[in-house]
Amino acid sequence: MPPPFLLPVLLLVLPPSPQAAAAAEDICIVGSGISGASTAFFLTNYTAPYPAPQLRVFERRDRVGGRLATVTVAGEVFEAGGSIIHPRNLHVRRFADLLGLTAKTGGDDDEDWLGIWDGARFVFKTLRPPPPGSSWLRRKLHGLANSLLLLRRYGLSLLRMDSFVQEMLQKFMLYYNGFESRPVFDNVEEMLKWSGLYGLTRRTLEEELIDAGLNTQTISELVTVITRINYGQSTSISGLAGAVSLAGSESGLWSIKGGNWQLAAGLLKTANATLHLQEGIESISDAGDYYVLKSNKGHEYNCTVTVVATPLDEVNITFIPPISIPPRKMQHTHTTFVRGLLDPKFFGLSSVSDIPELIGTMELPDIPFSCISVRKKHGEHDMTYKIFSRVKLEDALLDQMFSTREETIRIDWPAYPHYQAPEDFAPIILDGRHLYYVNTFESAASAMETGAVAAENVARLIISRLPLGLRAGLSSAAVPEPHIESSAGEEEGPRRVDL
Ligand SMILES: Cc1cc2nc3c(=O)[nH]c(=O)nc-3n(C[C@H](O)[C@H](O)[C@H](O)COP(=O)(O)OP(=O)(O)OC[C@H]3O[C@@H](n4cnc5c(N)ncnc54)[C@H](O)[C@@H]3O)c2cc1C
Ligand SMILES: *[C@@H]1O[C@H](CO)[C@@H](O)[C@H](O)[C@H]1NC(C)=O
Ligand SMILES: *[C@@H]1O[C@H](CO)[C@@H](O)[C@H](O)[C@H]1NC(C)=O
Ligand SMILES: *[C@@H]1O[C@H](CO)[C@@H](O)[C@H](O)[C@H]1NC(C)=O
Ligand SMILES: *[C@@H]1O[C@H](CO)[C@@H](O)[C@H](O)[C@H]1NC(C)=O
Repeated sequence: MPPPFLLPVLLLVLPPSPQAAAAAEDICIVGSGISGASTAFFLTNYTAPYPAPQLRVFERRDRVGGRLATVTVAGEVFEAGGSIIHPRNLHVRRFADLLGLTAKTGGDDDEDWLGIWDGARFVFKTLRPPPPGSSWLRRKLHGLANSLLLLRRYGLSLLRMDSFVQEMLQKFMLYYNGFESRPVFDNVEEMLKWSGLYGLTRRTLEEELIDAGLNTQTISELVTVITRINYGQSTSISGLAGAVSLAGSESGLWSIKGGNWQLAAGLLKTANATLHLQEGIESISDAGDYYVLKSNKGHEYNCTVTVVATPLDEVNITFIPPISIPPRKMQHTHTTFVRGLLDPKFFGLSSVSDIPELIGTMELPDIPFSCISVRKKHGEHDMTYKIFSRVKLEDALLDQMFSTREETIRIDWPAYPHYQAPEDFAPIILDGRHLYYVNTFESAASAMETGAVAAENVARLIISRLPLGLRAGLSSAAVPEPHIESSAGEEEGPRRVDL
């Protein structure tokens, strides 16, 4: 179902006049992850049927996708960065459809065999799943028994946690409204206030959940396991990042067969963007009517509009004149793939078959990892595991954890912001002119979909503020004034969800 994109915004962009074409008129995007690729896609999509502006995308690495990347172990492809997609992530779902990419369900998510580790023992375990190929009835009964087990331990807190997540999702869905009922936002605060989500960035997840009536055991066990898996952090992250991470524990999760990075590759292709691989941008200078981007290849590019589609926190781009944004730390997640076999003794167990397939952990000192999951059983004693940790897992430790280890792959990601409450947001328009920052929205929550939502807004914002050069040739009557509406206030609550 096509989204109800309204024409007035499309009318803003017409082919530039031949005279204007001599001047700089590129839109340059720094970063080829899902945010940069989505920005390119929406710019093209929203300006169709007119020829899109010339888009240049710069990527310092030799491949597109950024934090969407795969590794291959024993001939199998695994997601090393962003992996799961929520069924209600509508942009990503639409991208997959449009690009003809195949969805792969995350296996039987409900069947994941979870154990919660406190560093000394498993304080809680769901039931071992029935063997593959078991009857439908047996699997249903297993699911039911697990629900009862969870209910016995966490009680009503489970339902309260679910309502908390559903309420967030319902508000988030407003970002899919048509143009007629959804303003263009020029700052993140207003964007969040409009949907009613801003309040969740002012307080920690823990504060929000206590108010929502969750008991402390549920917060310190189940909720903590989930925030440590999805953001590598404790429940002191902001309520919004927390709610997004809890949504990532629901059922119906999926990913792209062959790798989520194909989303970025496909979007860049659809947008006809000129891709400059292995070309890092070192500086962005304001030259009056355009920006000069200097790359590490010694090249210069004149760009009318520049979009920064990478977190600025750990990259080294010099802005002339300098820009100022609130300091933000990135949470590093070390992703370690191990092909081998966990040692049951490390967990105080006597048999490998007693080790849960997903080991989540509580927020306690001395637990050296956030989670361990079996990604593939190649054989009875031959598995591929994925481990997340906040620090590098040294060989000495891995040797204690594993009885055999054939292959080890380590990736150190600047993974997502280190969330806090209240959260500060960098501006979307970095210089008050035509320098845009998509990844400021990551301070709300980091995910493929939030990248796409932020990019869609930035694309609309750019189109609504295009410099005159790009709008040349339009009769003044046809050019509506750039119009940026802002907050209608949180008090109004959620509006009609228009899918
Ligand atoms: C381990 C891990 C697990 C995750 N799990 C999930 C999940 O299950 N579901 C989910 O939705 N999200 C998940 N995420 C988050 C998700 O991956 C990110 O939010 C998303 O991929 C970010 O996309 P982006 O385009 O904004 O940034 P990036 O993907 O970081 O893209 C930025 C790009 O810019 C490039 N770049 C940087 N500086 C320059 C420069 N100077 N010049 C040129 N290029 C430059 C970088 O090389 C990079 O390719 C996870 C992330 C990690 C790390
Ligand atoms: C724009 O996106 C819609 C899907 O959201 C798609 O059907 C359409 O073909 C796209 N158009 C262009 C020109 O990319
Ligand atoms: C992309 O480029 C091709 C070939 O130049 C052209 O046929 C196609 O219409 C372009 N698509 C868009 C969306 O501009
Ligand atoms: C950028 O614009 C300036 C001024 O018009 C011009 O001198 C320069 O050659 C341009 N550079 C490129 C790479 O087009
Ligand atoms: C950033 O660049 C400056 C100057 O080129 C250099 O001194 C500094 O070490 C770099 N920092 C990082 C984090 O790469």
